[in-house]
Amino acid sequence: MKGLVLSGGKGTRLYPITFNRAKQLVPVANKPVLFRVIEAIRDAGITEIGIVIGDTGDEIRQAVGNGRRWDVNITYIRQEAPLGLAHAVKISQDFLGDERFVMFLGDNVIQGGISGLIQQFANSDWNSQIVLTEVEEPQHYGVAELDENRRIVRLIEKPRIPPSNLALVGIYMFDHHIFEAVNSIQPSWRGELEITDALQWLIDHGYQVYPYIHRGWWIDTGKPIDMLEANNRVLAELTHKVEGYVDRDSKIDHLVTVERGAEIINSVIRGPAIIGEDCRIVNSYVGPFTSIYHHTIIEDSEIEHSIVLDHSRIIGIPSRIEDSIIGRDVEITYSPIKPKAYKMTLGDHSRVGLL
Ligand code: TTP
Repeated sequence: MKGLVLSGGKGTRLYPITFNRAKQLVPVANKPVLFRVIEAIRDAGITEIGIVIGDTGDEIRQAVGNGRRWDVNITYIRQEAPLGLAHAVKISQDFLGDERFVMFLGDNVIQGGISGLIQQFANSDWNSQIVLTEVEEPQHYGVAELDENRRIVRLIEKPRIPPSNLALVGIYMFDHHIFEAVNSIQPSWRGELEITDALQWLIDHGYQVYPYIHRGWWIDTGKPIDMLEANNRVLAELTHKVEGYVDRDSKIDHLVTVERGAEIINSVIRGPAIIGEDCRIVNSYVGPFTSIYHHTIIEDSEIEHSIVLDHSRIIGIPSRIEDSIIGRDVEITYSPIKPKAYKMTLGDHSRVGLL
């Protein structure tokens, strides 16, 4: 089998973090979501992986390279515009050939990997298998209707009256018949070739489409709140270790990772949390569910339940920072200079909550 990872798209719901950067490279527990996806596919025994890229392709190529780091071969497939998930399949036909393949959205995080579901599809003669999970509010998702033989008969996007509580997760498996489908369907009202339409085409033309019900958690990191939720989940399951320096005046608990070259001085870190390479945490408190990415400085401040990207500086903030995603090379400092005022340089689409 081959793997196809979708890493194009615009990522508008994560602006400004993804204003000019790839959503799939935002780190969750200090590892880009896309790296977690590649590892999940590699762990399922697949070594030929195609990555669909768009405007942020150069950054993705630079971060991922040829895949040797994971013992896989990466092929990049350029999508000229985000014209839909089925369009991404269509332009990948040369790479995929006649092989069965798994398609994985590059911004999704799934508990427990995909080895189990790959096995089931690889050993079947089904034309497609799609991963579903039980959700509480199916009306907000793409939902599948199953028949009495547990075969999928219908897929409905955000149904008003859901036929089941089984929502589509961003993982799909196909054989080569999917190319007939993606070449037959028309763009939807939003101008995209929809993967649900391609699946419905397969079903309507007598191909066998089966579900795989995923029992653990699964998160689509499309919005900031989902990114924080994915960070919580992954941090809670991480095997933690301390490789950096922790001074005697600091207190860190056992669910804390301190990466190489990081220094924790006179601070309290409560896990689950991760402090990245070459960070400096001084006279500060870092609370649970916080990921601080590499080369960031936190001094005389308190932060929890947040993600901070690399090369940022948070210094002397009198109130605790919570529920925040702070970008790369951001500076948040206390300003004692009169007049007493908030002084900000914020980019387009920034969001700030002040006390
Ligand atoms: P989405 O989250 O549906 O789209 P998006 O990334 O453009 O985000 P937003 O709605 O916030 O603007 O995409 C899911 C994944 O699939 C994501 O990793 C991007 C990728 N994708 C493509 O590679 N090509 C496409 O044509 C589309 C629509 C998405």
